[in-house]
Amino acid sequence: MQFEITDKKIINISSDAAIVFAFSEKEKNKKYTPHNSFIDLDKELGGQIKKACDLEGFSAGRGEYISVISVDKIPASRVIVLGLGAKKEFVWDDLRRAIGSLAQKLKGKIDSVSLSIPSFEAESSPEIVARVISEGFILGSYEFNKYKKSNGRELSSVIFSEVQSKDQKVIKKNIEIAENFSKATILARDLVNEPASTVNPTFLAELAKNIAKKDPNIECKIIERAEAEKMGMGAYLAVAKGSDTPPKFIHLEYKPQKKSREKLAIIGKGITFDTGGYSIKPADSMVSMKGDMAGAAAVLGIFAAISKVKPSYGVIGLIAATPNLISSSAFLPDDIVKSMSGKTIEIITTDAEGRLALADCITYAIKEGATEIIDLATLTGAVMVALGPDITGLFSNNRDLVEKIKAAAFTAGEKVWELPLEKEYRKLSKSPVADLPNVANTRYGGPITSALFLQEFVEKNIPWAHLDIAGPAFIKNGNDVSGKGGTGFGVRTMLNYLMEEKS
Ligand code: BES
Ligand code: ZN
Ligand code: ZN
Repeated sequence: MQFEITDKKIINISSDAAIVFAFSEKEKNKKYTPHNSFIDLDKELGGQIKKACDLEGFSAGRGEYISVISVDKIPASRVIVLGLGAKKEFVWDDLRRAIGSLAQKLKGKIDSVSLSIPSFEAESSPEIVARVISEGFILGSYEFNKYKKSNGRELSSVIFSEVQSKDQKVIKKNIEIAENFSKATILARDLVNEPASTVNPTFLAELAKNIAKKDPNIECKIIERAEAEKMGMGAYLAVAKGSDTPPKFIHLEYKPQKKSREKLAIIGKGITFDTGGYSIKPADSMVSMKGDMAGAAAVLGIFAAISKVKPSYGVIGLIAATPNLISSSAFLPDDIVKSMSGKTIEIITTDAEGRLALADCITYAIKEGATEIIDLATLTGAVMVALGPDITGLFSNNRDLVEKIKAAAFTAGEKVWELPLEKEYRKLSKSPVADLPNVANTRYGGPITSALFLQEFVEKNIPWAHLDIAGPAFIKNGNDVSGKGGTGFGVRTMLNYLMEEKS
């Protein structure tokens, strides 16, 4: 998809469709308010746009659209009026999603669109609008069609019209940011969508090495099973025991231009397939468990894009990759394993495997001198019970970090909601035989007790956040900005986070 910027007026641009916008209204005889170039184009078309909207009962709901043929009155073949929903509720992400849904619907039908960047009263900045629109087009067009016929070709060109020359540079830069972020998101989606027989730990490790090879600012180290054993990663390796495919502990490192004392560790859960192990999952729950490496996919997406973001501090990406399988050598309920931290863990269920791998990643991050830790993990089914399929559970021991992650997620249009690290619930996780059990003695509060497990491995003074992405990382039905399956959740939130300088 190509993006072009021009100072030409939309009425003078040739494309398959000129897009204009409208907000919905709830008044009796007014269903929508025209926005942006609607009025200009309507004049050129002799009032045909308004007429079509009224005739068809167009109400400008978000993503609702109407197409009007322009019968050669303007160079664009048609005008598309795109609804943005109610103005009162409008946030930037509504524009991203409206565009995303339009991109899906126009697939295979339309090749080029033109639009002028709409301005909105509340703190309108054209560069942000251009970024949101570009992300909407790219992310909405994505589908995983490697093994099936595609729904049709995606748009090949988007022309932003009426951009004054003084604004062109900054708008171009923001389109490039959108392209970089979306490409990284799509990499994560592809990794999640590709079956686990292909995307195994070796595949992830090779990809990590390739990312580092292409980029002088990034280094990559792969720790094999034998070395991980020497380092004492007994929790992670317990999960890896059941599989012949070798586990790979992936360490990516971004080095800033100027040396910095700050080092952020981004940890991604990298269970390439989760059968549950001997605490086997019911057949229905096992479907989609190829997505249990969505956190790892996000880390790889982030590193594929990080050099263009250029954070001024060090960033390490850690993935303890392994599937959770069953074999005669697999770990068992009742096993007691020793984590890298020295803490022993009683295995109550082999299906709570992610936290074992993550625990050793956290200890490793601390040994590497991390000054801040953020993990992304499809950790619990229970977080979906709590927050539904669209929202990530956010836990943190640091207020400032919570606010920054929330802001970064809001900019990305990715939904997060904070849940508490309730210390009273620590007593729900006691083991008679080890320092701690791998699950609490109750199902209630599952996402919280799981986060509390991870917190046991975080040193008190290190700011840490845990994102339980089990809901939005993998979606059954698709949405306006993502097809079915992997969404790449977390990539754009984290890239936004990295874009903000540490204060
Ligand atoms: N990978 C799952 C969590 C999950 C479930 C992610 C559904 C995405 C969709 C995790 O390893 C797991 O099995 N968690 C258990 C925890 C339980 C054993 C305490 C769960 O959620 O049931
Ligand atoms: Zn599991
Ligand atoms: Zn899992």
